[in-house]
Amino acid sequence: MEGDFTVTPWEVTGQIDYDLLIQKFGTKRIDEQMLARLAGYAPLHPMLRRGIMYSQRDLDWILDKYDQGEKFVLYTGRGPSGHTHLGHLMPWIFTKWLQDTFDAELYFQMTDDEKYLFNDNLSLEDTLRMSYENALDVIALGFDVSKTKILVDTELIKTLYPLALKVAKKVTFSTTKAVFGFDNSTNIGSIFYTSMQSAPALLPSDLKGRNVPVLIPCGIDQDAHFRVTRDVAEALGYYKPALVHGKMFPGLTGSDKMSSSQPETTIFTTDPPKVVKKKIANAFTGGAVSAEEQRKTGGKPEVCSVYKYQYFIFEEDDRQVESLAERCRKGEILCGECKKLLSERLVHFLEEHQRRREEAKGKLDDFLMKA
Ligand code: TRP
Repeated sequence: MEGDFTVTPWEVTGQIDYDLLIQKFGTKRIDEQMLARLAGYAPLHPMLRRGIMYSQRDLDWILDKYDQGEKFVLYTGRGPSGHTHLGHLMPWIFTKWLQDTFDAELYFQMTDDEKYLFNDNLSLEDTLRMSYENALDVIALGFDVSKTKILVDTELIKTLYPLALKVAKKVTFSTTKAVFGFDNSTNIGSIFYTSMQSAPALLPSDLKGRNVPVLIPCGIDQDAHFRVTRDVAEALGYYKPALVHGKMFPGLTGSDKMSSSQPETTIFTTDPPKVVKKKIANAFTGGAVSAEEQRKTGGKPEVCSVYKYQYFIFEEDDRQVESLAERCRKGEILCGECKKLLSERLVHFLEEHQRRREEAKGKLDDFLMKA
């Protein structure tokens, strides 16, 4: 049905109405005023200017704290269900901007437990292995080793468990049913899981022995967990973590989310150039059936996955991205050429990323939190 969509931590489907999500979840838009405030700290990241990072909770509060000299800590994470794809990099690239702009420490959680519990086809060995593979992509983005800790849930359980327990004691089964749609057939690990995702939000305060503000950049699909975290944090006497929410990174099929379960429409950070070119060649553009037709009618950048790639990550220059859209609408640039431009960019980006990813193997140990 047109207009039907779902956004939960476990499922993102349909054409997402992002404005409606702000209303439904009760978050705040990152509006002009907030953008102006943020621009006072550093030139705005393109994802802010373009409304890709578009929603927030308590961002004003955490900036007030920062202005008063109380620095915040960043917390984000990844469910290691497989190799990292380009969509995953998006919020991490933004997190790096936050780290640089606010000189903030970062805790990055790898939830091998989560992906094991929620996927019938993954073993705990798989998700643990992928935690380390994915960590290489995080490190390759250039996070500051002196300010960044990567936490692997099953490895760091001794540190996380006491915090998870504090949370778990405050969350009832009926809350998880209401928030996540769980029922009596849901495995009990899944029911407990939100406590694990909440724990890193409390960790900085525990380690420092005083309340520390925490800012969580994440996809809007993760908000459900953090609504619970925020309620419980307050009940336990911690600050509620603040949030910045991003939109979902589009898939190559033209859908609203890139998905690892369709590998042919997903570009992984480990893909070789030939594979990338092939995937882009097959990407959905919504273009006309013939070149002649398209020169006449023009294309539709708003539905085109190739354009969205440029818009979401790869073309940082606003004028360039606008001009690309214009030329497409006028039929001046056709899909073949556009795909070639994107392919070249991606291949170039991935070559560099893969080189840094190799280098990251030697740094992994310095980034992993041990206790
Ligand atoms: N649940 C997230 C996922 O499936 C992983 C995650 C854990 C996370 N902690 C987080 C994401 C904090 C954002 C912020 O990918």
